[in-house]
Amino acid sequence: MARQLADRAFAATFRHLFAFSLLYEDSEVDNRVLGLDPRSRVLAVSGAGCGVAGLLAAHPERIDAIDINPHHLALAALKVAATRRVTSYAEFYQLLGRGRHADPAGALRPLMIDLPAWVARYWSANHDRFRTNLYAEGLAGTFQRWLRRTMGVDADFLRALHRLPPADRLAHLAPILASTRRAWPMRALVNTPLFLLGIGVNFEQRQRNLRANRAATMMDVVTAHFERLAQTDLETNWFVWVGLTGEFNHDHPAAVPPYLRAENHRRALAAPTRVGFHRESLQRMLAAATPGQWSHFSLCDVLDWLPAGAQRQLLHRIARVGGPGALVLTRSVESACVVDRLGLSELYERVEPVSTEASEQERTRLYGRVNVYRVAGGA
Ligand SMILES: C[S@@+](CC[C@H](N)C(=O)[O-])C[C@H]1O[C@@H](n2cnc3c(N)ncnc32)[C@H](O)[C@@H]1O
Repeated sequence: MARQLADRAFAATFRHLFAFSLLYEDSEVDNRVLGLDPRSRVLAVSGAGCGVAGLLAAHPERIDAIDINPHHLALAALKVAATRRVTSYAEFYQLLGRGRHADPAGALRPLMIDLPAWVARYWSANHDRFRTNLYAEGLAGTFQRWLRRTMGVDADFLRALHRLPPADRLAHLAPILASTRRAWPMRALVNTPLFLLGIGVNFEQRQRNLRANRAATMMDVVTAHFERLAQTDLETNWFVWVGLTGEFNHDHPAAVPPYLRAENHRRALAAPTRVGFHRESLQRMLAAATPGQWSHFSLCDVLDWLPAGAQRQLLHRIARVGGPGALVLTRSVESACVVDRLGLSELYERVEPVSTEASEQERTRLYGRVNVYRVAGGA
């Protein structure tokens, strides 16, 4: 009960904060597992919007992007508009790959044409985020700047680490992680609610994270996360690059979220997809929806923010709206299957081996599972 009250306060605060410029989910996985086609209608939680913009390349019929956080939804709308409207790949990459522009107001203005009026107002007030580096902005960007100053690592360090066999990287990283754990402001910050706001982890998900990592504190969770990240392909892991250098690895075309890659951008330019943006909670949007409105539901890790009763209610609503055969993509820091844990296996089947492969491929290494569920009763 105390946790639920704390999470109400968390949500009320979080929705007013610009936390992320980047979606901390591997949208390359989403594109692979959702299997969208021109008849697909997607309801997708946007976060910072890399995933929503990435769906355009598959030309779904419709995308409804939804988020309770207007900062994130406005950024998602901008990423979608730039993906569809900026025909020059070089200009597109300058804006959202490099995250900076000499004339941000001039660059953003023509993108606002089809967007809701509130999004246009938002960017006319906030275009300066592109003045130096979009990816160093927001609460997460601020924490990462502190982290970089504390760790003292750079792109050359990352390249050197990448050249080592994965098994040897930990030994190289261990002294840096140990001194980072001791250093201010990391030591003071990491176990506070402010840190949770900056990484988008509410108290419910914090608890799940501690359990999943068998950790006593969030500092332990963060350390374990770094150790997992060190084992990934560091040349193309854009989460590591943005976290430790503030930039994507511009030398590698696959080291960016899929929507920023040239081939996907070319395909997205021709997308006939209708896209809506909704400042709304998933629960309310689903309660007002009609059966068959969407065929695909991309939930980010929203279920992890909810206690079991609310998870069950949300999954029931999705099954009612999606109907037999609808697909649900969800991430969790836990390794348990949420459908099994809630006893909903008559309502949903987990799609395998797709889910297990997606969990292994997810390069954020933030999640114990990336699961795709199909509403039961379909063909
Ligand atoms: C769950 S958060 C966690 C961070 C996430 N992994 C990321 O990379 O953005 C992702 C997004 O979900 C939004 N969100 C959380 N609960 C929601 C809800 N019930 N309905 C709609 N959006 C929600 C948040 O505002 C945030 O932008």
